[in-house]
Amino acid sequence: MQSPVPAILQLLRLPVMPIVSIHELDRAVPLARALVEGGVSVFEVLLRTPVALQAIEAIRRHVPEATVGAGTLLAAADVQRAIDAGGHFGVSPGLVPDLAQAALDKQLPLLPGVWTASEVMQAMAWGFQTLKLFPANGLDGVRQIEHLQAVFAQARFCPTGGIRPEHVRSYLALRSCQAVGGSWMTPQPLVAARDYAAITALAREALQWAAPPQ
Ligand code: 3PG
Repeated sequence: MQSPVPAILQLLRLPVMPIVSIHELDRAVPLARALVEGGVSVFEVLLRTPVALQAIEAIRRHVPEATVGAGTLLAAADVQRAIDAGGHFGVSPGLVPDLAQAALDKQLPLLPGVWTASEVMQAMAWGFQTLKLFPANGLDGVRQIEHLQAVFAQARFCPTGGIRPEHVRSYLALRSCQAVGGSWMTPQPLVAARDYAAITALAREALQWAAPPQ
């Protein structure tokens, strides 16, 4: 079976990845359009709300420019749900065998979560080399990636969890950092208020944080 690694690396082509919680289905499409408008067309929708799968379906149908991941995959059944909704890729906070096997069997590009060296070794043993570093917790993840990348030359990391925009540049300066993820680009008060222009502005600002200093 073909390794999922090249696919996930191609999909995570932007330096920042919004992590989106959608509580009301009517927010899904305009929110996705707002992110695309801001230049950030790759994002993750967390499967932690009742409408998350419908939101992914709606975004796939109405916002073809978007590359949408399904987040918080915990078990094999979640892989099938992500595929059925049309998710381009999956994201998991950690990795367990049935989840890994399902993603490989069903060829869903998966970004599995790790923090320790042993977790990196387990993920790599399954063939996953592009890994979510979770929870990054501010700049703690920078130190962690520095240690891990020294040992695992092939690994690529996407830190998420507790990252602020001002941390983005420190992460992207690391050789092995592929993209930085977080919910700061889609804060719930702005989503609730339907302030999509502000979300577009946050997406643009995130790309500016990601740009190398002049
Ligand atoms: C994740 O899944 O990485 C987190 O839920 C997102 O974390 P944040 O809200 O701290 O950005």
